[in-house]
Amino acid sequence: MVRFSNKNKSIVSQYEKPECLQSSLKTENRLLVSGGATNPYQRSFEALSLPMMGMMDDRAIKILSDIQEGIRYVLQTKNEYTLAYHGTGTTGMSGVLDNMIEPGDKVLVGVMGYWGDKVAKIAQRFGANVARMEKPPGSRFYLTDIEAELQTHAPTILFLISGESSTGVYQPLEGIGELCNKYNCISIIDVVATVGQQPIKMDENKIDVIYFNTQKGCGGIAGLSPVSYSPRAMSKFRKRQTLPRIYQTDIKEQADAWFITMPKDSPHKAWRHSFSISLLYSLREVLARIVEEGIEKVWERHADIDQYFQSRAEKLGLEHFVPKPEDRLIGTTMFKVPTGKDGYKIESYIAEKFKIDVSPGLFVNMGKVLRVGLFGSNANLEVATSVIQALECALNSTQTDL
Ligand SMILES: Cc1ncc(COP(=O)(O)O)c(C=O)c1O
Repeated sequence: MVRFSNKNKSIVSQYEKPECLQSSLKTENRLLVSGGATNPYQRSFEALSLPMMGMMDDRAIKILSDIQEGIRYVLQTKNEYTLAYHGTGTTGMSGVLDNMIEPGDKVLVGVMGYWGDKVAKIAQRFGANVARMEKPPGSRFYLTDIEAELQTHAPTILFLISGESSTGVYQPLEGIGELCNKYNCISIIDVVATVGQQPIKMDENKIDVIYFNTQKGCGGIAGLSPVSYSPRAMSKFRKRQTLPRIYQTDIKEQADAWFITMPKDSPHKAWRHSFSISLLYSLREVLARIVEEGIEKVWERHADIDQYFQSRAEKLGLEHFVPKPEDRLIGTTMFKVPTGKDGYKIESYIAEKFKIDVSPGLFVNMGKVLRVGLFGSNANLEVATSVIQALECALNSTQTDL
C-alpha cells in the first residue's frame, strides 16, 4: 500500500512541529486565593477523570437532573427552568441578558464596579436602552436608591451584582424582588461572587433570574454557568417578538436539551449541541459535596473563616477597602495597599515565596488593593492562617522594594 506514503503531498505537514508542545505539561500546586478561581474540592477535581459516557445514555440524563436539583438547592429555589450553560460566568451573564432583553427594552443597571459596568455594555449590545445607576467603588445601593431609580426610569429589567468582586462589596437581595414586582420589572442578579458563600434565597427574595459560575464559592472547575429563571421571567421570555440572538444560551433550546420541555426518553430529539460530560460530572460532584455538608453549614463555615481572617488581617494593620463592615462580601476581602508599599510587588513576593496567589485588584482599583478570596475548599482555618502568615511576612519584609 503506497496510499499513506510520505510522497503523497497532501499528508505532508508544511510546518514544523511546535517546539513548545514536544514535552508534557508540568504544573505545581498553588494556593489559589486571589478571589478568582479557587482550588476545587477534591471530589469535583477527581470527577474530571471518571470514565466518559455518551449523552444519550440514561445515566448521563440522570446527571443533568441531579445537577438541576443541586443548583435549585444552592439557590434555594423551585424554578423549573434551572440548568447550566456551557461556558464560564460571562456566558451566563450574556445568556440571561440575551433571553430577557428585546431591542428597545429599558434596562436599569446598578454599577458599583467593573462587573456592573460590563453588564451595562453587554446589555447595550443586545439593543437595550440602558440606564446606569452608579455608586463609587466600595459602596452599594440601598432600597430607597433603587426605588427612586425605578420610578424615574420605569425599566422592564433591573440588573444588580450581589457580590461586586472588583471592589469587595456585598449588595443585599432582601426587598429587591418586592420592588421589581411593585414596579413591574424583571430582576436579574449576578451571584457569581456570593453563591456558596452567603445565602441567596432566590424564591424567598422573589428574584427572577440568577446566574453564577462554578469555580468560585461553589468550589468547582470553570466551564459551566448555572442559571435559573422564575415563572415570571419565563412569561416575559414567551412574549418575545424576536428570537434571542445567541443560539447556545437560548433558554427555550436549553430547556429541551436539559429535558425540561422534552421527555427523557427522547434524547435524540433533545440534543442541541455537545455537552462536556467531564465538566458535568465535576459540577454534579461539587453540588453533591455541598449537599453532603448542608448549605447552612457551608454558609456558616464561610462566615466563620471570613471573620477569623479579617480579625487577623486587621491586627497586621491592614485597612479595609470597603469602609462599612456590613457592605463587605463574605469570602472575598479587599485591603488597601499600605502607604509606601507596592501591591504588585507584594503579590509577586507572596506568589514566589509561598506559592500563594493573591490579587493586586481588578481594573477600578488595580495596584491599590490586595484581594484575598477564601471560599469553596479554601474556606478553612489552615488556608486562612497560611495566607495571614504570608501577608505578615510580606508586610514586615525588609526587602526595600516591597
Ligand atoms: C461578579 C462577577 N460576575 C461575573 C464574572 C465572570 O465570570 P467568569 O470569569 O467565570 O466568566 C466574575 C468573574 O470573576 C465575577 O466576579
